[in-house]
Amino acid sequence: MQIKNAIFAACLAATTTALPATQSNTFNLIAIHSASGVQYATFNAAKSSIFAGLASQNASCARPEEQVATFYLNNGALYLYDQSATPQELYVDRSGMGQGKIGYTTGAQSAPRNAEREGWAVKDGHLQFAGSDLIACPNSIENSWSIWAAAGVSNPAGNSDCVGIAARVEETSNPNGCLYTE
Ligand SMILES: *[C@@H]1O[C@H](CO)[C@@H](O)[C@H](O)[C@H]1NC(C)=O
Repeated sequence: MQIKNAIFAACLAATTTALPATQSNTFNLIAIHSASGVQYATFNAAKSSIFAGLASQNASCARPEEQVATFYLNNGALYLYDQSATPQELYVDRSGMGQGKIGYTTGAQSAPRNAEREGWAVKDGHLQFAGSDLIACPNSIENSWSIWAAAGVSNPAGNSDCVGIAARVEETSNPNGCLYTE
């Protein structure tokens, strides 16, 4: 692990200037819904899904002690930030099967059949998909919340007690590069 981190840090130093010029700023996300348990929980990425309030993402990161996910937008598509050549890109499945499922693919993995890649945008400091705010549902993993896109289902995929949230964008000038778990 230490050797891996050392190599990673060296790569980080070497490739910092090689980022595509079109890449927008990197940011973290914070859930906002006052008087709810999800209020101020930071977004995480793990197991090809997006959470808020996870104690441990178990990702391979340049700064492994940090447990928040770092994102960036590129032409309406949303990515997890890393310095490696393996992209992790988000998708949304608003079909009857997906009910607003937000996931991410790693490298050349294909997204589910009905998945959409584009439609992400920041409005008034909040990240939205297709012009709508996101949804957080209580999750059994570490008392966290799973994060969903709005697809006309207020409690998607058999979840209960879900709440609408604003996903507040907090830009970071020193992003933590991570490869998140699949
Ligand atoms: C991270 O790893 C710990 C220890 O194996 C485990 O308890 C926890 O559920 C994992 N978290 C995720 C999000 O995979």
